[in-house]
Amino acid sequence: MSGIVVDLKQIVRKISHELNGELTREFTPDAVSRFGLRAKAHSRSILYTSESLMLPLIEFAVTRRRPRLPIDDPEFFKMARASLRELIECDLARIERGLYPRDVLETESFAAHVRRLPLLFKEGLRASRRRLGKKARVFGSDAQELLRGLPEYYQRNFHFQGDGYLSELSAELYEHQVEVLFGGAADAMRRLIIQPLREKFGPGDGEGLTFLEVGAGTGRATRFVRLAFPRAKIVAVDLSPPYLKKAQQQLAKFHRHDFVEANAEKLPFLDGQFDAVYSVFLFHELPKDVRSTVVKESARVLRPGGFFGFVDSLQIGDVPAFNDALELFPVQYHEPFYKNYIENPMGALIEDQGFRILSKGTGFFSKFMAAEKTE
Ligand SMILES: C[S@@+](CC[C@H](N)C(=O)[O-])C[C@H]1O[C@@H](n2cnc3c(N)ncnc32)[C@H](O)[C@@H]1O
Repeated sequence: MSGIVVDLKQIVRKISHELNGELTREFTPDAVSRFGLRAKAHSRSILYTSESLMLPLIEFAVTRRRPRLPIDDPEFFKMARASLRELIECDLARIERGLYPRDVLETESFAAHVRRLPLLFKEGLRASRRRLGKKARVFGSDAQELLRGLPEYYQRNFHFQGDGYLSELSAELYEHQVEVLFGGAADAMRRLIIQPLREKFGPGDGEGLTFLEVGAGTGRATRFVRLAFPRAKIVAVDLSPPYLKKAQQQLAKFHRHDFVEANAEKLPFLDGQFDAVYSVFLFHELPKDVRSTVVKESARVLRPGGFFGFVDSLQIGDVPAFNDALELFPVQYHEPFYKNYIENPMGALIEDQGFRILSKGTGFFSKFMAAEKTE
């Protein structure tokens, strides 16, 4: 709650600064548009942060125990909110610099957002019960059909979510759940992949380039890369048919992409076929040996000099002030490989597979890394 109050204060301060400064000094369409962009991005984050109050409420309803609350560690909470705001400001600056268009901030209708809330609450209660009962392999009959042939590590309820990644309900709720968890910062974290792509491929529209996205899920990051590189060909791969179906629906108005059901460990593509291979929030969900296999397989389908990049959770030591929070995350949510992920730097793993690191950075709870295939 204190975080929301702090945020509201920040917004009011920003608004009055704009009104007293830029807007009144030069009441230009540019200044108004910049102001609108800021208001949109920050109010979106406040909306999701306020919805995240649902989480301790659900936990209390299920466990009857007092949940951990932001007021238990106000200093950490204040720091985390400052980091989130910094990410949002950097994201806005990239839009203003033309790295990607402002359409990335386009939102679904408020009615669609609100209609999902009862479902989220209901599924939150179920997830909390699964967590209490330590049940991470619960699948409905439709999802069970889809389990066949999938890797063992994948056959679980990641985050204790219903049917894991294997139902239409899970696909419908997923993006909203992630935004609630990260106070509306998930999209800005996903967009961290665009700057290194731009640095590699320059300011064009992507004409003639072929990108591969692995673990594309419901296509959220795919949409952002598509908007940044409207003429690139994008192939998006995932193991989940319901998530791919959702991705297809969400990108229906765009062209030049394919959605392929495949395992990132064994990609159905030729050697050297792609200019870039990237992923968002994939590696922390994979066992260590699979992480290596996926990087190796990515190298195989990349042309020499091709781009490899990812956005994922911070790892231990990236932002020392967040180390404790990273340790806590897999305890609260079912993330069986997360502890191993945060303790094994991705940089070393990538270099082991013949890549040269080009750039890296962090934003809120996430990091990005970009590399180039050397041979
Ligand atoms: C945390 S989600 C991230 C989804 C999406 N990239 C995003 O930004 O929200 C992880 C995704 O990776 C997919 N996935 C996990 N293991 C995979 C594998 N071995 N091959 C392909 N996709 C995989 C899951 O189905 C899921 O959609």
